Amino acid sequence: MASPDYQQIKKDIVAILPNKDYDDGSIGPVLVRLAWHASGTYDRKSKTGGSNGATMRFKPEASDGANAGLEHARAFLEPIKKKHPTISYADLWTLAGATAIEAMGGPAIPWKSGSEKTVSAKDIPPNGRLPDAAQGQDHVRDVFYRMGFNDREIVALIGAHALGRCHTDRSGFDGPWTYSPTRFSNQYFKLLTTVKWQKKKWDGPEQFVDPDDEIMMLPADIALLKDPEFLKISKEYAADKDVFYKDFAAAFGKLLDLGVPRTKL
Ligand code: HEM
Repeated sequence: MASPDYQQIKKDIVAILPNKDYDDGSIGPVLVRLAWHASGTYDRKSKTGGSNGATMRFKPEASDGANAGLEHARAFLEPIKKKHPTISYADLWTLAGATAIEAMGGPAIPWKSGSEKTVSAKDIPPNGRLPDAAQGQDHVRDVFYRMGFNDREIVALIGAHALGRCHTDRSGFDGPWTYSPTRFSNQYFKLLTTVKWQKKKWDGPEQFVDPDDEIMMLPADIALLKDPEFLKISKEYAADKDVFYKDFAAAFGKLLDLGVPRTKL
């Protein structure tokens, strides 16, 4: 079988991003989230988890509460899988995340295809490896250190919350982090470090909002303000977009690569 035409697949991904019937008019943010959740189950000690095998196709992982809503992202990519059957699901998901970042104005993300091994039930990572938005800096560090990231990479990665929004029927939280949720930028850090965040007055889970209740932060985002090291890095990214873009591209590329075996040349 011919090897996948990755350039054409990227073009096909870019073509489906605008969608006037979906959220803020782009499916880009939810594709980024799919790539991150597929990859973010990685455990560097046991070398389990990660996108390889696209184990989120199967019920145990698909039904992890953290993955609620990602069935939409997977369905959006299905026509591209049909058109290019030789790309693996894992490659398609991670390539879609990388392509969406770039198409929404972000940096080019280093990405390589990986071979997909045959998946068996034991390859499916246990639920609960993805971060819990209700928790603070200790939990955030535990989860990302397990994947093999340092503090600077953690802060850079969470800067992806420039994109997209929370949905009450998925995570239970509500609203976007920025005023331009379909453009990649360092707005997340600018807003995080300058807005007077206050607890949202509602019956839902604890989250923080600006005084006009238009944008939001999760408790796990506010952890970046509470922790002195995280705060220092957040302020740096708020002041210097280029540094953020460079660090984000490297960290996101590393995330997408976790646990992906390389075909030997
Ligand atoms: C402490 C770490 C993190 C926590 C607790 C967290 C939590 C969340 C939650 C609760 C949502 C809302 C889901 C929904 O209701 O639809 C969300 C959305 C999102 N997250 Fe994160 N996240 C984290 C890190 C990351 C990272 C590392 C990335 C990518 C590099 C990322 C990218 C996104 C994107 C793009 C969305 C928007 C999805 C959409 O619009 O449908 N997040 N995140």
